[in-house]
Amino acid sequence: MSVILDGKALSRKIREEIKKEVENFTSKGFRAPSLAVILVGEDPASKVYVNNKRKACEKVGIKSLFYHLSENTEEEKLLGLIYELNTNEEVDGILVQLPLPKHIDQTKVILSINPEKDVDGFHPENMGKLVGQIEDGFIPCTPLGIDILLKHYGIEVQGKDVVIVGAGFIVGRPLSLLMLWRNATVTVCHIYTKDLKKHTLQADILISATGVPYLIKEDMVKDGAVVVDVGISKVNGKIVGDVDFEKVKEKAYAITPVPGGVGPMTVTALLINTLKAYKRKFSHLSSTINP
Ligand code: GUN
Repeated sequence: MSVILDGKALSRKIREEIKKEVENFTSKGFRAPSLAVILVGEDPASKVYVNNKRKACEKVGIKSLFYHLSENTEEEKLLGLIYELNTNEEVDGILVQLPLPKHIDQTKVILSINPEKDVDGFHPENMGKLVGQIEDGFIPCTPLGIDILLKHYGIEVQGKDVVIVGAGFIVGRPLSLLMLWRNATVTVCHIYTKDLKKHTLQADILISATGVPYLIKEDMVKDGAVVVDVGISKVNGKIVGDVDFEKVKEKAYAITPVPGGVGPMTVTALLINTLKAYKRKFSHLSSTINP
């Protein structure tokens, strides 16, 4: 039986600290931090994610401004809205929920966001800061949430063999850079990887971010490994991850559950990034929250 890496409990604790810090600012007469959330279209999963993010903001006293645009919104209109938000002094963070409808150029949209408000950390300026290990950038939320979760449970990353399954732009790629930053030896596997099991069996820390339910079976995991499951899929109406949790938990030293593992940590990291964007404007204010 392994240690359960409880992202829900840790999130509760960190969000309580964020709430106190926000209250500390507002009680001194400063305006509340604010996050603009843009959703284009009606994708049901995206609607759930956006709702969770907005609710989490409100609970800690971060104002959330919601822009729900129709599926057939023209790219120009979305870019115009981002331009307005970029220049609005009262807006600290801007989040455009992905994926966007096919007729909108995602790269163009990401490039249009002011890097100082890019709390998702997807702008090349922030990705570049992640490569360069420059502290004042924004680290994408899921990698940052995983990093905080591992640190909290005292899981050393330096010198470890970290194997990441999935090379996506939102999780796998930025996470590989963050794990390198933490001095791990990093392997990134993807759909063209010849022998996935050969790699996963080497992992001291195995992180799966593919969205393929039950991809990671017990015979692919080394005894005593730490297993982090980023996947969220629906199978027969039930939310499941990439990892065959019931079997793998018997073999792993520690494992994240789905739900209640990485998911809440991603939202918590968004709150941390939004507070960071806010505080940058009021740099004379002190902080108790890291990073
Ligand atoms: N879609 C899936 N994950 C994310 C995320 O972290 N941020 C945004 N903006 N869209 C997503």
